[in-house]
Amino acid sequence: MTQTTPLAQRIQQFYDTSSPLWERTWGEHMHHGFYGHDGRHRKDRRQAQIDLMEELLRWADVSSAQTILDVGCGIGGSTLYLAKKFDAQAVGITLSPVQAKRAGERAAEQGVALQAWENFDDTHEPAVQFQVTNALSTPFPDGSFDFIWSMESGEHMPDKQGFLRECYRLLKPGGTFLMATWCHRPTHTLAGPLTSSEQNHLDLLYDLYHLPYVISLNDYSDLATTVGFNNIKLADWSRQVEFFWQDVVRSAMDLNVVAGILQAGSETIRGTAAIALMTTGFNRGLIRYGILRGSK
Ligand SMILES: C[S@@+](CC[C@H](N)C(=O)[O-])C[C@H]1O[C@@H](n2cnc3c(N)ncnc32)[C@H](O)[C@@H]1O
Repeated sequence: MTQTTPLAQRIQQFYDTSSPLWERTWGEHMHHGFYGHDGRHRKDRRQAQIDLMEELLRWADVSSAQTILDVGCGIGGSTLYLAKKFDAQAVGITLSPVQAKRAGERAAEQGVALQAWENFDDTHEPAVQFQVTNALSTPFPDGSFDFIWSMESGEHMPDKQGFLRECYRLLKPGGTFLMATWCHRPTHTLAGPLTSSEQNHLDLLYDLYHLPYVISLNDYSDLATTVGFNNIKLADWSRQVEFFWQDVVRSAMDLNVVAGILQAGSETIRGTAAIALMTTGFNRGLIRYGILRGSK
């Protein structure tokens, strides 16, 4: 696979090959954890990942949902968690067929019904569907979901405005969109535009994680306003989540994990190298963890 391979295909292959190892080593959630508002609470990594979801829901004031879209669902960690928490019906979309298949197996293992989204009803029984669908162009009718959740998938989107526009289209009037995504630092402040050293740092990360580019949280806010979202709320939770990478590094020291990384092949080895870029990126204030809520 080279840089001339289309982005969606590179993302698909990255997650097809790395997801089984990630699940074995780090579990069903492929996202950061929450270590307290001061970032200092040390806790089990998986608990930190659950806490991040709960803190996000509280921050966004989401206490119920009936139909949910999980954009970039991985192996369905959040999809299943949210469907069960809210007795909701949820669709998870991903570019990776391996992830969609595994997510469906995990639903069956947890006794959550698999149900086609066309048949979602008002039963208040948790049900899920997982499918390979590009978030930039989905088959769902306008206003299909009352809650749209995007956990660390926005950074992969080559058309950020198109991504937000599609989420807005899919949201029911009165519904909530909640996203957590990797950003770069703001550039409208005294710090000014990104320096060439910062840009080089990001370019390496883009290459290793198959990201087209990231933007600042303020840029996301402007785009969200442009596509029609209202009631927009923003926060930078870099401090709250950055300890996650130290924990990932610690677990990657395990010999079995190293063997798994080597077995999974070059894509996963490259992805592992990116851990160092994330750690230093947070340290120098370049990489930021942005969260955004919007309503329709
Ligand atoms: C870092 S993983 C996060 C997975 C999941 N949200 C979680 O927290 O466990 C990024 C996910 O975004 C998905 N993704 C990236 N670009 C996408 C796109 N254009 N359409 C749909 N899914 C996409 C990937 O397939 C992958 O499942």
